[in-house]
Amino acid sequence: MKVSVIGTGYVGLVSGAVFAELGHDALCVDNDERKVKMLEQGHMPIYEPGLEELVAKNRAAKRLRFATTIQEAMEHGDVVFICVGTPPLPSGAPDLSYVDAVSRDIAKHLTKYRVIVEKSTVPVQTGEKVKLTISKYAKAGSEFDVVSNPEFLREGSAVADAFNPDRIVIGAETQRAKDMMLNLYDKFRDKCVVVDIKSSELIKHASNSFLALKISFINAVANICELSGADVTQVARGMGLDQRIGPQFLYAGLGYGGSCFPKDVDAFVDISAKLGYDFHLLREVQRINHVQLEKFLKKIEQELWMLRDKKIAVWGLAFKPNTDDVRESPAIKICAALRDAGAKVRAFDPKGQENAKSVLAGIEFSPDMWHALEGADLLAICTEWDEFRKADFARIKKLMAHPTIVDGRNIWDPVEMKKMGFAYRSVGR
Ligand SMILES: NC(=O)c1ccc[n+]([C@@H]2O[C@H](COP(=O)([O-])OP(=O)(O)OC[C@H]3O[C@@H](n4cnc5c(N)ncnc54)[C@H](O)[C@@H]3O)[C@@H](O)[C@H]2O)c1
Repeated sequence: MKVSVIGTGYVGLVSGAVFAELGHDALCVDNDERKVKMLEQGHMPIYEPGLEELVAKNRAAKRLRFATTIQEAMEHGDVVFICVGTPPLPSGAPDLSYVDAVSRDIAKHLTKYRVIVEKSTVPVQTGEKVKLTISKYAKAGSEFDVVSNPEFLREGSAVADAFNPDRIVIGAETQRAKDMMLNLYDKFRDKCVVVDIKSSELIKHASNSFLALKISFINAVANICELSGADVTQVARGMGLDQRIGPQFLYAGLGYGGSCFPKDVDAFVDISAKLGYDFHLLREVQRINHVQLEKFLKKIEQELWMLRDKKIAVWGLAFKPNTDDVRESPAIKICAALRDAGAKVRAFDPKGQENAKSVLAGIEFSPDMWHALEGADLLAICTEWDEFRKADFARIKKLMAHPTIVDGRNIWDPVEMKKMGFAYRSVGR
């Protein structure tokens, strides 16, 4: 099938490459000409394991191309995906102006039947607005259907996830649109869940909010562990073995971050309020998440007393391992808070360094993890990259001025750390 993707970011680029790999003829469009030029020259604008190879393979097979205009997207694709950003506004509501702008542009170039798919994460009832907008701006009698097909990829394993989905949610109203979507996802037909558009939109917000709730829940339990002397990793293990609970997202730490969870929880709270429901439970999830960062900073302060002029090494800037994405990363907020308190921060991240440089001034970026440690009074661990887990403890100790570690991701064993002579604090243990 011919597929167009509008918005070639994390979601759009992965989706386009995956559709191409599934044998479809994919065109990825972005109005960022620099990004499109990079992709046409074979360079990746983002880091995502396996993506570069997938893009190269499908470009070579001529199943994946790039362009800069929505006109080209509309001429090419029978199915046209909207994958533009829906960033948060200060009110907590998502900014849907990119979705609106694309919908109007789609309408302008709608000359034959197209299935328009909202893949961007949007609040319930947005599908109705997209449909109205296209109807209003398109030529009278233009034929189209709007479909909701939320994206569940996880950055860091997006490509692998795409070929092994738990489910593919399709919200559609007409048989014609349903059939086209099922053909598109033919390889995963048994994973397709076909529902109405509003339910599909809600599935996305409810799923992400539920996962955020799990994270805040275990962080709340971590607090009880710290107060009572229990170990949250043992508690989480014991809980997670219950199949009704499951082990995933039961890791106590710095709380959730990234471009999705904070924004999607905020957006779900916002749309719920607009619809007349106070989602108090989720507001508590947000509060716990916020407090978790403050508690981490307090531990650093307790170790160092005054932060001014103290040398602090920070390992990890990306919001999680295996991605270069630093949007809403707890690590960025921690670096900024330490910097504002007068500390001399030296940070390192294996992939997120360049993105961090564009949002974080007044700290030093180290060329490698060891450089960051030289003469440090304290090491703060903010992202659980594998190379940090496997670090050589003797080398850490030799490089630091004082072997003090505050670990926001529980990557090491407190008993072992103590035996090796580190002052080591983690979360809920
Ligand atoms: N990143 C994730 O892990 C993830 C997972 C699931 C869902 N989502 C959702 O998917 C959507 C996209 O997220 P993302 O992380 O890929 O965002 P992104 O910022 O990486 O990409 C969005 C892209 O859209 C482009 N764009 C904006 N307006 C355009 C226009 N008029 N024409 C063409 N291109 C345009 C931008 O230049 C950018 O490249 C969001 O709603 C997000 O919540 C993201």
